[in-house]
Amino acid sequence: MGPSKLLENKISRAVDKPLFNSLSASLQKLKLEGYLVGGYVRDIILGRPTKDIDIVVVGSGIEAAEQSAADLGAGQVKVFKNFGTAAFKYKDTDIEFVGARKESYQRNSRKPIVEDGTLQDDQNRRDFTINAMAISLNASNFGQLVDPFNGLEDLNKQIIRTPLDPAITYSDDPLRMMRAVRFASQLGFTIEAQSFQAICNQHNRLDIISRERIAEELNKIILSDKPSVGFKLLYDSQLLHEFFPEIVALQGVETRNGISHKDNFYHTLEVLDNVAKRSDDLWLRWAAIMHDIAKPATKRFNPKGGWTFHGHEDLGSRWVPRIFKRLKLPLDQKMKFVQKLVFLHLRPIALTKEVVTDSAIRRLIFEAGEDIEALMMLCESDITSKNEKKVKLYLQRFEEVRQKIKDVEERDKIRNWQPPITGEIIMNTFDMKPSKAIGDLKSAIKEAILDGEIPNNYEDAYNFMLEKGVEMGLKRRHQSN
Ligand code: CTP
Repeated sequence: MGPSKLLENKISRAVDKPLFNSLSASLQKLKLEGYLVGGYVRDIILGRPTKDIDIVVVGSGIEAAEQSAADLGAGQVKVFKNFGTAAFKYKDTDIEFVGARKESYQRNSRKPIVEDGTLQDDQNRRDFTINAMAISLNASNFGQLVDPFNGLEDLNKQIIRTPLDPAITYSDDPLRMMRAVRFASQLGFTIEAQSFQAICNQHNRLDIISRERIAEELNKIILSDKPSVGFKLLYDSQLLHEFFPEIVALQGVETRNGISHKDNFYHTLEVLDNVAKRSDDLWLRWAAIMHDIAKPATKRFNPKGGWTFHGHEDLGSRWVPRIFKRLKLPLDQKMKFVQKLVFLHLRPIALTKEVVTDSAIRRLIFEAGEDIEALMMLCESDITSKNEKKVKLYLQRFEEVRQKIKDVEERDKIRNWQPPITGEIIMNTFDMKPSKAIGDLKSAIKEAILDGEIPNNYEDAYNFMLEKGVEMGLKRRHQSN
C-alpha cells in the first residue's frame, strides 16, 4: 500500500465515527460547507491524541454550531459573536466552529479586520502549513484532505513553514514566532530557513503580545521532551532577549589568568534537559531554569582560587518573585517551591563532600520538607560533566546521601516537623506574656533537636525547656494545686 493510501485509511478511520457523521448531516441540513481544520487535522495525521476539534464553515459558524449541538443532544452552545465563533462540549471533546475568514492585520495589534471568506482564504491566514490542512465533512467528498500548501509533505519532512511569505505571517500575529519555536521543540521539527530568518528580523515585534500568551507558549516549550531545543531557538532568534534577559545574561565564558568558567546558559539548558528526563513537573523544570540565574551578578575572580559565585543561590532565590511577576507566572506555592529549590540547590552537594553529621542531614530534611525528593532530582540533574566516570561517581555519592536521608528520617521523623513545644506551653509554664524570649526559647529547642542534643519527643523537649528557661532567668508560674 502506497503512502497516500495509508494516509487515506488513517483519515477515514479517524472520521468514521458517529460524531463526524452527525456533524456532516447537520451541515448538509443547513446547506453549508464545513471542514475539520488546524491542529486537529495535524494531530490525526501525527497520531497524537487530541480533544479539541476546530471546524471551519463557509458561512455562519454560529448557525452550524447550534444545529450540530441540537442534533447531537450536546450541552449549551457558547457564542462569541464578535469573533464569529461558537463552541460546545460533546462528551469529553471541545468542538469549536468558526466562519471561514479573510483577515487583514494592523501593525500594532493582533486584532484583525475580519471579512467573510472562502476555505482557501481561511487556510491562507493560518500560521503554518502543518496547521493549514483541512478535511472535508461534506457529503460530496467526506474525509478528503484539502492541503493547498503541502502541509502533509512538511509534516513528513518535519518542517515548520508558513503558508504565505513568513514576514507577513509573523507580522500579522507575532505570537506565531513563539508558536514556531514551541512546535519545533514539542515535535522535534526544524523551522525552515526563511521562516527562521523572518523571526530573527522581527523578534522585537513580540512587544505587542501579552506576557500571559508568551508564558503559555514558554511553558509548553519547557514541558517538551527536550526543552533545550526550544530555548536555543529562542536564544538564536533573540526572542528570549525580549522577555527573559536574566537567562540571556548567563551566556558566555570569561577567561582570566588562563582560567575559564563554564557557560552557564548552556549548562542551565543541560540541567533542564536532565530534569525533563526525570520529571514532568513544570515547576521543578522552572527550578532548573532558575537555579544559577544569579551567577552573573555574583561572579568574582580570585587569583588564587579562580572564579566564584558566592551567594548565587540566595540572590537567585530572591530574584524569583520579580521574574515570575514579570513573566505572569503564578505568585503562589508554585513560586515558593521554585524559590526554595533555588535556595537549597547547593546543600546536597555539600553533603557529598564531607564526613556528614546526622545534624546536617536533619537540617536539610527540615528545610526541604516534602520537597526533598524534588531537590535531590535537581541536584542530580546539575551534574553536567562530559566525563562519564565523574558523573557516575557523583550520582553514586548522591545515592549515599539519599540513603542517609532515609535513615535519619526513619529514626527522627523530621519531615514536615513541628517542634513539640509550642509558645502556649512556654507561656503557661513560665509566667510570661507574648515576647521575644518565647521565640528565643522555641528556637533553642528546635536547634537542640536538629543538632541531635536531645531526641525529637515531647518529654525531652519539655525538660530541655525547663532547664533553658531557668538559665534565661525565667520564673516558673506558681502552681496552685
Ligand atoms: N492559529 C493561527 N495563529 C495563531 C494561533 C492559531 O493561525 N496565533 C491557527 C492554526 O491553524 C492552529 C489553529 O488556529 O492550528 C488552532 O489553534 P490552537 O488551538 O491555539 O493551536 P493548535 O494548533 O491546535 O495546537 P495546540 O492545541 O497544541 O495549542
